[in-house]
This record gives sequence, C-alpha cells and structure tokens, in this order.
Amino acid sequence: MLDSILVTGGAGYIGSHVVVTLLQSGHNVIVLDNLCNSSASSLDRAYQITGRKPVFIQGDVRDRELLDKLFTQHQVSSVLHFAGLKAVGESTREPLKYYENNIVGSVGLCQAMASAGVFKLVFSSSATVYGEPEQMPISESFATGAPTNPYGRSKLMTEQVLMDLASSDPRWSIALLRYFNPVGAHPTGLIGEDPNGIPNNLLPYISQVAIGKLKELTVFGSDYPTKDGTGVRDYIHVVDLAEGHLKALQAINDKQGLNVWNLGTGRGYSVLEMIRAFEQASNRVITYRMAPRRPGDIAECWAAPDKAEKELGWKAERTLNDMMIDTWRWQSLNPNGYTE
Ligand code: NAD
Ligand code: UFG
Repeated sequence: MLDSILVTGGAGYIGSHVVVTLLQSGHNVIVLDNLCNSSASSLDRAYQITGRKPVFIQGDVRDRELLDKLFTQHQVSSVLHFAGLKAVGESTREPLKYYENNIVGSVGLCQAMASAGVFKLVFSSSATVYGEPEQMPISESFATGAPTNPYGRSKLMTEQVLMDLASSDPRWSIALLRYFNPVGAHPTGLIGEDPNGIPNNLLPYISQVAIGKLKELTVFGSDYPTKDGTGVRDYIHVVDLAEGHLKALQAINDKQGLNVWNLGTGRGYSVLEMIRAFEQASNRVITYRMAPRRPGDIAECWAAPDKAEKELGWKAERTLNDMMIDTWRWQSLNPNGYTE
C-alpha cells in the first residue's frame, strides 16, 4: 500500500487548493469532508487541473468509527486538518456548534491518529489567536491574545490542546499554521472561494458587487488609526498558502514536537487599497459606502513572515494584482460558484 496524506476539509476553499498542490507534487491524497460548507465539484475540478484524483470519503471528522476504518484501510503518513467551521458571526450565535466541531473534532482526530500510529499533523490556525497585538508586524514569539469571538477561541483552544499533546509524547510532530487573510483563487479559474449566502469576508463581497449580485460594499470603519482610516490586513494568495502547507509537511517529517509558523506576506493593505486594486484588475467600478466599525474587528494586522522563510524555505510570491486577477477570473467564470 502506498502512503497517502489525509486532508480533512479538503473540498473547502483552502483545502481544495492544497489538494491540487499535493497531487501536483506526486502525493496520494485522501479527502475526508462532510460537505457542510463545500461541494464535491471542487475535487472534480482538482482532477481537471492535475489529471490525478484524490480518494474522496464523504464523512464527518467527529465520526470515530469512520476514522478508525479509514486509517485501517489506507496507509496514512500525515494529516492536514482543515475541517472546521469558520463563520465568526455564526460562532457568536451558536458557540457550542463551534466548540464541538472545531475542538472536539480535532481531539477525536488526534485520538484516532494516535491509535493508528500516525503522529504527523498540520493544523489550520489563524492570526486571530494573536488577539489585538500592540505592535506590528506580528511574529510567532508574540504571546497569544484574546480572540474576540467563539470561532477565534476555538482555534486558540485547539492550539493549546495540540501543544499539550506534543509535550506529552515525543512521537508527535505538529505544525500550527497561522494564516493571515487568504484570498484569490487557482489561476485556472476552476477552483476558488464559494461562500454560502452573503459573504462575510472582504474580497468575496467585493467580487459579488463587481458581478452585480450585490449592490454595494459596506466599508466597516473609516476612523481606524491606519494609513487611510480603514482596516489593514495581510492578504495572502491561496496558492502561496497552499505551497506553504507542502513546505510545512516536509519540515515536520524531519522535526519532532510542535512548531508554529505564520503564513502571511508581511504587507498590509487597507480596505480602500483593496477596492482600488480590484477595480484595476477587473475594470469594474465597486460602489461602496462608509459605515461604522464592525464589532470585534481590529485596526490592523500583518505578519512577520521571516520564520517561515528561514525554517521552511517558503515565502509568498504572488502580488496583490495576482490576487485580484485570479479572484475576478474565478468569479466571472463561476458566477454561482460550484452551483451550475
Ligand atoms: P471552508 O469552509 O471552505 O473549508 C472547511 C471544510 O471543512 C469544508 O469543506 C467543510 O465542508 C469541511 N468541514 C467542516 N466541518 C467538518 C466536519 N466536522 N467533518 C468533515 N468536514 C468538515 O473553509 P476554509 O476557508 O477553506 O478554511 C479551512 C480551515 O482554515 C478552517 O479550519 C478555517 O478555520 C481555517 N482558516 C481559514 C481562514 C480563512 O480566512 N479562510 C483563516 C484562518 C484559518
Ligand atoms: N470589511 C469591510 N466590509 C466587508 C467585509 C470586510 O469593510 O463587507 C473589512 C473588515 O472590517 C476588515 C477587512 O475588510 O478591515 C477584512 O475583513 P475580513 O472579514 O475579510 O477578514 P478579517 O480580517 O475580519 O477576518 C479574517 C478571517 C477570520 C480570521 C481573521 C483573523 O475571516 O476567520 O481573519 O485571522 F479569524
């Protein structure tokens, strides 16, 4: 039996891009996804791009019996764990759903891995675990802060569980990847972000305004202490992010214990800069209006990316214009996402 990499949540936005990167670099891939926020079409598209198929198992990461069967039937060398819920607003209304899915799901996965003798894990964490740091850029040595919502706390608590696990048993080799703001789509226009309902995040919202599905963008806050008063974030192209996973996977093959890496570009852009860059790339006008701050938002956030560069030999290569062009290509080729 050939070794495979298990990708939980592999049909989702980031997972599907990672699946493409893994297949292209010759890995065998098993995707476990319950499709609660995605479509299996993303995996058909991954096949179209790479000419290779991942094994797809539709199921829940909290289903221990299913996991045990999966680890018996397949020789899994490592696990990339994307499966989780990520809607910040919903997490405030339904916190237990988030703690159950994101924390309990991760604990069950680690238990199943340990009993199958699989000890290499890459976990999708978020810059949200830093809370609101006083200084920029954010480096991994910063203390974790106080995330402002249950989603963020579920990521921080899962990180803590994984830290305890790695300290308890030297066989574990775990990467915590703290993503900044993933955006963009595969340059083929075949896979991309397909949010359910009205998007919460900036770029999917902007691109739905551009295609005429939404009337105007609301800019949350014009009085932040930033370059133009609007929020500043470190947007990173999802294909760069995917390549970072491949490097992290290689690194944990040689390292034991737990390692934390920021995956960001080291550059911050404001909401107004994002609007302008999108207008330029798409040749469309984005109508927007200024509104009060969104509760829970921080003013600015960008990464110190040098630890990943030094230790993983990885750095984000794609420009803001690439992010915008690829987002627009995906949006215009797939106005309704994966729904035909
Ligand atoms: P996504 O919703 O597109 O992907 C998550 C996938 O997990 C979906 O396909 C969903 O169907 C699946 N899933 C959810 N719960 C599951 C369960 N219990 N069992 C099996 N499958 C399940 O989200 P994404 O943007 O691709 O995010 C992937 C991961 O990265 C998540 O853990 C998210 O919290 C984290 N993350 C995302 C961002 C971002 O801005 N997109 C930022 C930081 C961290
Ligand atoms: N914004 C708007 N209008 C919108 C949406 C967003 O002005 O309609 C602004 C926000 O106020 C913020 C910036 O655009 O200044 C980016 O907002 P996003 O919602 O796209 O991203 P966030 O930085 O708020 O959140 C993201 C992920 C979270 C994660 C967080 C920290 O969505 O899951 O980064 O990593 F927790």
